[in-house]
Amino acid sequence: MLGCGNVGRAVIRLLDELADEIERRAEVRLEVARVAVRDADRDRDVPLPQDRFVDDADGVVDDPAIDVVCELIGGVEPPRTLLLRAFATGKSVVTANKELLARHGGELFAAADAADRDLAFEAAVAGGIPLMRPLRESLVGERVDRVLGIVNGTTNFVLTQMSEHGWTAEEAVAEAQRLGFAEADPTADVEGFDAAAKCAILASVAFGARVTADDVYREGIAGVTPQDFEDAGRLGYAIKLLAIAELEDDEVAVRVHPAMIPLDHPLASVRGASNAVSVEGPRIGQLMFYGAGAGGDPTATAVVGDLVSNARNLVRGVRGPRTVVGTDLPIRPMDDTRDQYFLKLRVEDRPGVLAEIADRFARNGVSLERVWQEGSADEATLSFITHRAQEGSFQKTLHELRELDAVHAVASVLRVEGEE
Ligand SMILES: NC(=O)c1ccc[n+]([C@@H]2O[C@H](COP(=O)([O-])OP(=O)(O)OC[C@H]3O[C@@H](n4cnc5c(N)ncnc54)[C@H](OP(=O)(O)O)[C@@H]3O)[C@@H](O)[C@H]2O)c1
Repeated sequence: MLGCGNVGRAVIRLLDELADEIERRAEVRLEVARVAVRDADRDRDVPLPQDRFVDDADGVVDDPAIDVVCELIGGVEPPRTLLLRAFATGKSVVTANKELLARHGGELFAAADAADRDLAFEAAVAGGIPLMRPLRESLVGERVDRVLGIVNGTTNFVLTQMSEHGWTAEEAVAEAQRLGFAEADPTADVEGFDAAAKCAILASVAFGARVTADDVYREGIAGVTPQDFEDAGRLGYAIKLLAIAELEDDEVAVRVHPAMIPLDHPLASVRGASNAVSVEGPRIGQLMFYGAGAGGDPTATAVVGDLVSNARNLVRGVRGPRTVVGTDLPIRPMDDTRDQYFLKLRVEDRPGVLAEIADRFARNGVSLERVWQEGSADEATLSFITHRAQEGSFQKTLHELRELDAVHAVASVLRVEGEE
């Protein structure tokens, strides 16, 4: 094992607790031979002799007596170099590292192929929810064309708190930090980087395409306001940070952003730190995966499942299903994606303003599904929900509306997902 933090400790405890059962069911006995950490002297409070801990990760990877390397360090380096070396010395690999796979998945899958060894990564997306194996194995008989998910528990916790207490994002992040649901530096979660990495992995695995984190359009949740929740609630929507991967006309569209989804959509009721992912295809319709997307114990179950399957394959001299991410499908530019939009404007309250604004929508080919107005003394609020429109056309409309004298402010812009 490389790393023994939240997940590593839980994996060691689980392997100890289930050793006999795993041996009975999988006909393989797993032994944690060595654990590389930064500080080998620290007591880890796990059922493993202290002399198994070392601070020499290279030595673990090079050890010919070790069959499977389980990487639970996190980040790109040194894990990338260590895992390439593990394959070069004929080991199979299990990792929970989304950042590494989202940046260097192609290189690692190629190294696994060259070594004819398994690379398993169930824990990298949605922690304890079995999702990679269904996508890689159970669904080879389907052409999955859409994956829509809540894949970051921290932001879902924050948005749930905002929705239920009327808090600002800042207040809700502070509460999440206090309760241990958010890191001291919450940037990776709040700005959507973590969800973007998972989105890239989901798209790669679901569509067999080469997609990296840099391909994913990304907006975080910092701009979502208590007023947005009020508006969404009144209109029958929840607000969620969604990771969306779509395959259309042999192009891949990948994006992470907050969105309004109808309250009767299965993702709308996902509260707190839970994760949920909807996988869609022409034959299966919609499949929902729901559960604990993080945490040491749930994540460890995914890691142990991978360890057992890799070990069993080694014993039998076979290899599990490859992850085919060889296809260079084009990534659709964000401007060419299509969506519905909610837009709220504060405008001058005089005759003709609505017509002037509607004209901008029409000229850019954005048609309106709903329009409504709330007035006050000399300023009115105009809200719109568009039909599905091209992102580029909507953004051009928005730019033109900002230039109009009659438009005092753009109070809110949110994409709307999950409508038929
Ligand atoms: N936590 C979750 O809920 C969760 C869920 C899904 C996936 N994951 C993924 O699982 C991985 C591990 O997460 P975690 O939460 O367990 O992380 P963590 O608690 O920060 O643990 C990291 C471990 O890596 C060790 N380490 C750091 N640099 C090292 C180096 N250069 N050589 C050897 N060991 C090194 C640390 O050693 P010391 O202990 O000596 O400092 C520590 O034991 C990450 O890729 C993460 O994204 C985590």
